[in-house]
Order: sequence, then structure tokens, then C-alpha cells
Amino acid sequence: MNKIGIFFGTDTGSTRLVAKKIYSLLGADVADKPKNINRTRVEDLLQYNALILGTPSYGVGDLPGLAVGCQEANWAEFVPHLDGVDLSGKRVALFGLGHQERYASRFASSLIQLYRVFYGYGADMVGRWSTEGYQFQFSDSVIDNQFVGLVLDQRGQAHLTDERLSAWLAQVTPLLLAKQAEAA
Ligand SMILES: Cc1cc2nc3c(=O)[nH]c(=O)nc-3n(C[C@H](O)[C@H](O)[C@H](O)COP(=O)(O)O)c2cc1C
Repeated sequence: MNKIGIFFGTDTGSTRLVAKKIYSLLGADVADKPKNINRTRVEDLLQYNALILGTPSYGVGDLPGLAVGCQEANWAEFVPHLDGVDLSGKRVALFGLGHQERYASRFASSLIQLYRVFYGYGADMVGRWSTEGYQFQFSDSVIDNQFVGLVLDQRGQAHLTDERLSAWLAQVTPLLLAKQAEAA
């Protein structure tokens, strides 16, 4: 597939909204319409060599899903289906939502779980993001002083989302497109 695939999990709709913003910023020539991960088969995702994946944060050390109280299936229900796949030909950029004021001690905690899954299956992970401008005590999703993907806070810093998205997409889009060109 010569477009970027966008997949998201969500419980209350914010991650879907951000995925739609990403799609409209990239345009239909560059990306396919975002798809909820709970309506995605592994084959759908594996069609793409370049992926943008988004997750909200629910709980410590967990992917969002039914076990942590989400209303619908989410990443936790999808990930077991990846068992044994080889993602070494894929380039993946992640974004994660969280609420830094309310969950300051575990901010954007699910992002690292998604990172570990895709990194673990061999994907080339891109799109790290500075922690500057956020106020939190601790986040598992920080490695070497950077978040492992773009972090957005739609509860406390929604006014910064568009600016952050544009800057992050300027960083990751060329890397994702280069991967497609390589694979074509
Ligand atoms: C029960 C519950 C647990 C949450 N746990 C965390 C958390 O551990 N870390 C965090 O940063 N945000 C946490 N949040 C905030 C959500 O990740 C945030 O509101 C996000 O925007 C929701 O995205 P969604 O609308 O796509 O589901 C939690 C919210 C709820 C309601």
C-alpha cells in the first residue's frame, strides 16, 4: 500500500478526533482514512509499510481495553492477534493522549505499551517528541528524556494540539514517505 495507514484506539472519542486531524493535515493523497483498531484485522494493518498509530492512556502498565474498563475493544484486544508477525519492514510513528494534571504520576502511560509491542515485533520506530511544555511528575513513556511518540493532552492543553501536530507531522511525514518509496 503506497499510503500511510492511520489506526487508533479510543474510549471517549478524543483519539479518534486527533486521528482525523492527522488525516486532514496529511491529505487523502498521502494517507488513508483513519480506522478504529477494534474494527481492524491484522491483514488491514499489514498492508501498510508506513503507519501512524494512536492510543489514549488508561491505567498503569496497560494498553487500553476491556480489562481496564474501556467500553469497547481497544488496543489490548487487537495486539494478541499480532503474535508472531514480523514488522521489520514497517516504519511506525506513535501518538498518545493523556491528562497530565489528573494523571501526573503516570502521564501518557499507555503510549510506552504500544511502543514496546511494535518495537518488539521489529518495526522501525520514529517520531520521538520533547517533554518541554508539559507538566507531570512521571511518565513511563519517556526514554532518553523524550516521549517515544507525540503526546497530546486534550483535557488540559487542547489549545496546543494543532501546533504540536503540525510540528510533529513535519518531522515524521518525510520519514514515513521515504519508507514507502523504499518499499515500492
Ligand atoms: C479511568 C481513566 C483512566 C485514565 N488513566 C490515564 C493515565 O493513566 N494516564 C494519562 O495520562 N491519562 C489517563 N486518562 C486520561 C485519558 O487518557 C484521556 O482523557 C484521553 O484523552 C482519552 O482518550 P479517548 O477519548 O480517545 O478515550 C484516564 C482517563 C480515565 C477516564
